[in-house]
Amino acid sequence: MSEIDKIHVPVLLDECIELVTGNFANLERKNPVIVDCTLGLAGHSTAFLSSAASATVIGIDRDGQALELASQRVEEAGFADRFIPVHSAFDSLGEILDNRNIAGVDAVFMDLGLSSLQIDETERGFSYSKDSALDMRMDKRQSKTAQTIVDTYSAEELTRIFREYGEEKFSAAIARAIVSGRENGERISSSAQLVKLADEVIPRSRRPAGNPAKRIFQALRIEVNGELNKLASTLPQAALHLNVGGRIVVESYHSLEDKIVKKFMRKGIQADVPAGIPVIPEEAKPFFSDVTRGALKADSDEISDNPRSASVRLRAVELIREIPESKKAEFAKEAAGEKIRPQKLKKSGKLKKPKKHR
Ligand SMILES: C[S@@+](CC[C@H](N)C(=O)[O-])C[C@H]1O[C@@H](n2cnc3c(N)ncnc32)[C@H](O)[C@@H]1O
Repeated sequence: MSEIDKIHVPVLLDECIELVTGNFANLERKNPVIVDCTLGLAGHSTAFLSSAASATVIGIDRDGQALELASQRVEEAGFADRFIPVHSAFDSLGEILDNRNIAGVDAVFMDLGLSSLQIDETERGFSYSKDSALDMRMDKRQSKTAQTIVDTYSAEELTRIFREYGEEKFSAAIARAIVSGRENGERISSSAQLVKLADEVIPRSRRPAGNPAKRIFQALRIEVNGELNKLASTLPQAALHLNVGGRIVVESYHSLEDKIVKKFMRKGIQADVPAGIPVIPEEAKPFFSDVTRGALKADSDEISDNPRSASVRLRAVELIREIPESKKAEFAKEAAGEKIRPQKLKKSGKLKKPKKHR
């Protein structure tokens, strides 16, 4: 193992290798193309390159540091001639492929969230267990940080992101405390201050286990990096660029991500007709097969070796026929970036008035 291999342990590695490269022998194309949308430190990608000797990997990451280390690792493993690193957010997937005249790919892989490298580097500000500036950017070229949000969002906007992205029950009280601190010259400017505020505001009797600031940190991270909207607009781009026989394979680590993946995959797994219709028209027949039959999880051995795997949900679909034209049009719209709002907010159209916290 090189030093880079030790920084981040890939989750469900054997399952991912099988799902991404396992059907390459059945494809007509002799040089399959894999897109790893979340290259990280290339733990998964080097394994794909090793398992599929004729495959090329396009490795995308928005984190320049990860991309550098990943490229070094791929080179050390002797696969540099079959590897194309791309410094970008993955929602530019369509553009990245079009710019390289790549019409179709054979696998699109996503291992969502953060790498251990990002979590462990204190100054990146992702961890609530270490004091640092409120940064949380995956891409350091971006100007919006967690501090920007804490400094400039209104109490309503903060409440919305804490509730939607953190599923935090005391969202409004935390938002009010941040804004009133700002107004009284007690601006929150470090992760330790934010942890202290959450500890003061969330009643001890109403807290789930773990750090009380966990959900607030998750919400800020999702907002800083636009994580859910990027995921929702990338999945249709992946489908639109997939060759028949190709697969989309996604590892998610929290329920908000997994819901988006599941909802998207279901559009092709199920026939697009009302229940009970006797004959399914050709256009409405399923175009994805559910390769994982729902979500795969890590077993207890993997969880004890690598606690990060505890929350993983791995889903994969295979494109079994051309996507019908009507669905292609729907996917093209989604790829252009419709905002994702959780179902309950969509129904009511507005946030419920938060209960006053005493
Ligand atoms: C869990 S790590 C991937 C680890 C990798 N599979 C490995 O084995 O080394 C997730 C990576 O995805 C990147 N990432 C997350 N969201 C992204 C996005 N929207 N666009 C591009 N990269 C993203 C992060 O910067 C991080 O490096």
